[in-house]
Amino acid sequence: MSLLQAVKYQRGKLEVLDQLLLPHEFHYDTVSTRQEAFDSIATMRVRGAPAIAIVASLGLAVELHNNSISASSDGEVIAQIDEALDYLKESRPTAVDLTNAITQLKTIIRTADGKGKEAIVQAFIEEAERIFEKDLQSNLSIGDFGAQWLQSQVGASPDQKISVLTHCNTGALATSGHGTALGIIRTLQSKGYLKHAFCTETRPYNQGSRLTAFELVHEGIPSTLITDSMAAALFRTKKAENNIAAVIVGADRVVRNGDTANKIGTYQLAVLAKHHGIKFIVAAPTTSIDLETKTGDGIKIEERKREELTQISGAVVGSDGRVDGNNKVRVATADQRIAVWNPAFDVTPAEFIDVVVTEKGAVEKGPDGTFDFSKILPERW
Ligand code: MRU
Repeated sequence: MSLLQAVKYQRGKLEVLDQLLLPHEFHYDTVSTRQEAFDSIATMRVRGAPAIAIVASLGLAVELHNNSISASSDGEVIAQIDEALDYLKESRPTAVDLTNAITQLKTIIRTADGKGKEAIVQAFIEEAERIFEKDLQSNLSIGDFGAQWLQSQVGASPDQKISVLTHCNTGALATSGHGTALGIIRTLQSKGYLKHAFCTETRPYNQGSRLTAFELVHEGIPSTLITDSMAAALFRTKKAENNIAAVIVGADRVVRNGDTANKIGTYQLAVLAKHHGIKFIVAAPTTSIDLETKTGDGIKIEERKREELTQISGAVVGSDGRVDGNNKVRVATADQRIAVWNPAFDVTPAEFIDVVVTEKGAVEKGPDGTFDFSKILPERW
């Protein structure tokens, strides 16, 4: 089985999978400049909080590697890199991984201040590469901690397999590999704990049906696709039969008290999970934690353009049921004059979240109903 990769990188060369073409077509764009990285992220050809940070960091690393900076002092080199990072920060506002990566990169280049232009650029490139590599390690740990938590809390085991529901896409395509929420599902499957995975189609860009369903099928994980509006019916009618024990989602930003921004529709799943006695798990690397923002009210929610809701792209399906990847179409799914509200994310209050699973461990809510991340992030507290 081939490995799904959102990003292919070697020093001086970055290729980014165009996820808007999936599942019909596999096409990698070459990204060599900050503008190309910005464009890939803003148009959602690459998406998912960790992958966005990776493409911004590596895109600028490639630009710096291939084009010499014209600056006469170290201070000027640092100022030019800062300017490029500030530009990239504007590509999408909600996921905090990008902001955290930028802060880290700005700090690192300052450690090479006084050592010359090459040393500053080298420090930047090495740090961008580290961000990429560390993400995969984090995801593997999240998978292990998540499976352990489910074993201890709901008795997940080969003798008592559980089913789970996930939303949006949090898999290999949203990260540098394995995935976060989908990473836990992969680990559950590899340990023999998983009975079935349900995934929602997810609005506005159908990341669930286009990407998660694709990843689940690719991995041979027993799975079923539902629309977002079927979750309540699923829990009511199929929970017992399937032993649906958890909803597992990713995060774009987990703030200080545990309130979590994730793909629109996450909040309604959390409310439903609570009503039906199903655990609600947020799987997120610590790069998705924002300790500066106290509660979810402080999170900026991105609103996307109307066409993402009123039109859809696809490929023609022939009468034999086969998808013709060369025959693409864009069709209207609504009266084009209707007013549209299209927030890309919502905030799930901490009270609905049972656990935040990070690469440093699973953090449960304290008796005051909020999360205390000082146990895993003492250095940022
Ligand atoms: O708008 P998107 O597709 O970038 O949103 C993605 C999500 O909401 C994911 O759940 C989140 O970024 C976590 S990806 C590991």
